[in-house]
Amino acid sequence: MAAAGEKRGILPGWRSLGAALALLAALCGGNSVERKIYVPLNSTAPCVRLLNATHQIGCQSSRNGDTGVIHVVEREEDLPWVLETGPTPPYMVLLEGHLFTKETLLKFKESPRISGIAVMYSKPPPAEGFSMDLPCPNDGFGAYTSDHGSQYSHCNGTLWNPLGSGMSYEDFHFPVFLLQDENETEVIKECYMKHNLPGNGSAPQYPLCAMQLISPMHAVTSTVTCMRRNSIQMSFSINPEAVCDTLTDYNVWSTVKPVNISGPAPPDDQVVISAARLDGRSFFWNLAPSAESTVSALVTQLAAAEAIHKAPDSQALPRNIMFSFFQGEVFDYIGSSRMVYDMEKGKFPIRLNNIHSFVELSQVALRNNSELWVHTDPISRSNESVNTEVEQLIKYLKNSSVGTNVTLQENDQSQPLPPASFQRFLRVRHIPGVVLTDHRRAYSNKYYNSMYDTPESIHMNYPSGLSKDEALNYVTEAAQSLSEVATLLARTLYLQAGGNNTAGIQADVKSVTRMLYGFLVMSNNSWFQSIIKPDWKGNLENKPPQYYVTASLIGRTQSPNPPTSFVIAVLANLTGQVVNYTKEGCQSPDNAAEPKLYEYLWVQGPLNDNSTTRAPYCVRTTLRSYLAESPAFELNEWDSTEYSTWTESRWKEIRARIFLVPSYELEVITLIVGIAVLLLSFGATYFINAKADILFTSVQDSSGSVAY
Ligand SMILES: *[C@@H]1O[C@H](CO)[C@@H](O)[C@H](O)[C@H]1NC(C)=O
Ligand SMILES: *[C@@H]1O[C@H](CO)[C@@H](O)[C@H](O)[C@H]1NC(C)=O
Ligand SMILES: *[C@@H]1O[C@H](CO)[C@@H](O)[C@H](O)[C@H]1NC(C)=O
Ligand SMILES: *[C@@H]1O[C@H](CO)[C@@H](O)[C@H](O)[C@H]1NC(C)=O
Ligand SMILES: *[C@@H]1O[C@H](CO)[C@@H](O)[C@H](O)[C@H]1NC(C)=O
Ligand SMILES: *[C@@H]1O[C@H](CO)[C@@H](O)[C@H](O)[C@H]1NC(C)=O
Ligand SMILES: *[C@@H]1O[C@H](CO)[C@@H](O)[C@H](O)[C@H]1NC(C)=O
Ligand SMILES: *[C@@H]1O[C@H](CO)[C@@H](O)[C@H](O)[C@H]1NC(C)=O
Ligand SMILES: *[C@@H]1O[C@H](CO)[C@@H](O)[C@H](O)[C@H]1NC(C)=O
Ligand SMILES: *[C@@H]1O[C@H](CO)[C@@H](O)[C@H](O)[C@H]1NC(C)=O
Repeated sequence: MAAAGEKRGILPGWRSLGAALALLAALCGGNSVERKIYVPLNSTAPCVRLLNATHQIGCQSSRNGDTGVIHVVEREEDLPWVLETGPTPPYMVLLEGHLFTKETLLKFKESPRISGIAVMYSKPPPAEGFSMDLPCPNDGFGAYTSDHGSQYSHCNGTLWNPLGSGMSYEDFHFPVFLLQDENETEVIKECYMKHNLPGNGSAPQYPLCAMQLISPMHAVTSTVTCMRRNSIQMSFSINPEAVCDTLTDYNVWSTVKPVNISGPAPPDDQVVISAARLDGRSFFWNLAPSAESTVSALVTQLAAAEAIHKAPDSQALPRNIMFSFFQGEVFDYIGSSRMVYDMEKGKFPIRLNNIHSFVELSQVALRNNSELWVHTDPISRSNESVNTEVEQLIKYLKNSSVGTNVTLQENDQSQPLPPASFQRFLRVRHIPGVVLTDHRRAYSNKYYNSMYDTPESIHMNYPSGLSKDEALNYVTEAAQSLSEVATLLARTLYLQAGGNNTAGIQADVKSVTRMLYGFLVMSNNSWFQSIIKPDWKGNLENKPPQYYVTASLIGRTQSPNPPTSFVIAVLANLTGQVVNYTKEGCQSPDNAAEPKLYEYLWVQGPLNDNSTTRAPYCVRTTLRSYLAESPAFELNEWDSTEYSTWTESRWKEIRARIFLVPSYELEVITLIVGIAVLLLSFGATYFINAKADILFTSVQDSSGSVAY
């Protein structure tokens, strides 16, 4: 298949010979000009290669891209054409979204007649659900290992993502792209209908509409292999070029009471941790809308942080509360394993034995009958003192749910935890804690880690005709529901921290509304514009952010990816104080008062009255962010089974285009004619050169002689 693609790739070079083309145009009615036109596809998402300690997954094209005749596969009945009967392989399959299944992909994988796949969105999303993640996500990297509840490992007991096909973790030897723009899909379909549609069962006539998908990958085999190649490059090459990068971005955390980061917290300082994850994924690169799987918890936790900061006695609580946002959790818990590692190694101001308890929010937007499920860890609860603390925590949760529209439900004690960052903490210490979700057993989310995990899937529906600013403040059903959960979380954390008057603690539905809009619909809104750092304003876009963790370019410092920069902006806005500092005072922390306790953010500010300039200001906050790279890379344990080893291959270019190809015979004729013309022109040049004196100078002479 790859060979065929390359063979076709050589010919256009010959074809570009002007003379050959001109001759050919004369020979076959002048359609060669049309044939040369490439139409680039401008809105696609590729599947790329990722690697872990032992495997490579994802997709790649051959070096110059793979080409094939387009065939639209919209129904099962269209499959035999591309797999068996079609006369012009290899085929580029334009695949209808609902056929993008494990079954079809495995057939394509085995067939030498398929050179690549361009997938269309299924509209509406598949009602039966769609997830290409594993049925047992993050297996092997959570708490349930041979030393801690091995009876629960491999999701024994509860399969969390039964709809998961696992295709995101398969290795494909051809390119797979997602077509993100319906209008472009229409352009391709039109080309197909005009040129490729098999008429009356007979073979379609050349020229045919073809597609080229270009996504060659530099890294192969595994992280061990690519990191070794990276380090050889780094030590011996003058112009080092890595072949793969680690999946890395920033963890974000903040505390209600400021923490002195220049040394360890005193051993008797106790901290209640509230956690949520910051990232998601899908089969395709940098495509992860993650509405339910990530944003539901993220936004809820931000709203709870705001509510607690507003409580009058929040600074006087006996225990501190830490809000943490973990990055790269989808890829075997990169962020949480980093924090636990730093806590163990004394590189984090809060230590493991400062942790009083742990509350984690997982997916919470799809509550059935307003039920919120409490999950606990049966292994740590077998310790009497831990169990007492867990029971106390559940009591607080129940008290906090009174008066909210949340029905708190306790899960069976014998059921293990769903995949959660908390599991990384339980791996090293028996900490009392809970994980809150909208599902009792299997996920309520039918689209876990897929491109269909969109705002619509969590009931965020806006009436048509709203302006941007109206939509920003339009309270959806989802906003209402999540603010109830945020109120419950805020009250619970407040009680856990030793507070006793929850009456005034209430999440602000307006904040939740604006966050949902910014995190799921459009980050380029007036609120995000006013609270972001000027350096990061390029992250604002008129479309939803994507929650893919991104790769850290080895040897370069990196700024946070867009969603992380928004979390930092929002958290600072909702929990920080505006201080009267100049730009210089704000940006150089050493000039600021108490630099070890606070971070200072210079933000763009709101528009002035004339709407042309902004009024920037300084915000003082307890939030911090730090690079969350898997400890496996600091330890140079590239084959680690303890820490995440995921890396992303580098590539030179990713591109897709369509064009018309002539028949193979025609290409051969073109080639022969081309060579003939070339030889002819060599001959002519030789002849002209050799006889140049006769052909040119003699004309002058003769004209001269005629003049006389
Ligand atoms: C690497 O990924 C593959 C595919 O998901 C999996 O089978 C394998 O167990 C992983 N290896 C490690 C060390 O986690
Ligand atoms: C697609 O085309 C229609 C009509 O030409 C246009 O209204 C619409 O905005 C286009 N969609 C995109 C995503 O460009
Ligand atoms: C992509 O953009 C180019 C240049 O703007 C345009 O010529 C081309 O038609 C676009 N592709 C499609 C499929 O619309
Ligand atoms: C299909 O067959 C019918 C009748 O046999 C004929 O009129 C028609 O032109 C054919 N269409 C194509 C696309 O060959
Ligand atoms: C932070 O701790 C350092 C050393 O542990 C100490 O010197 C400094 O005064 C502390 N800062 C504040 C504001 O408490
Ligand atoms: C229970 O946990 C506590 C605190 O983690 C620990 O001090 C104690 O030794 C444990 N008890 C047993 C029986 O393991
Ligand atoms: C963001 O929105 C503003 C108007 O509010 C607009 O001027 C600007 O071009 C937009 N930025 C992007 C990247 O679309
Ligand atoms: C947060 O944003 C709002 C709206 O832009 C603004 O009024 C408020 O002053 C900001 N607060 C902080 C602490 O930045
Ligand atoms: C802010 O600080 C400047 C100089 O430090 C001072 O002149 C001004 O009055 C302050 N503004 C407020 C509102 O405190
Ligand atoms: C807009 O207003 C701000 C202060 O309100 C002023 O500094 C700025 O110069 C004004 N810009 C224009 C173009 O008038």
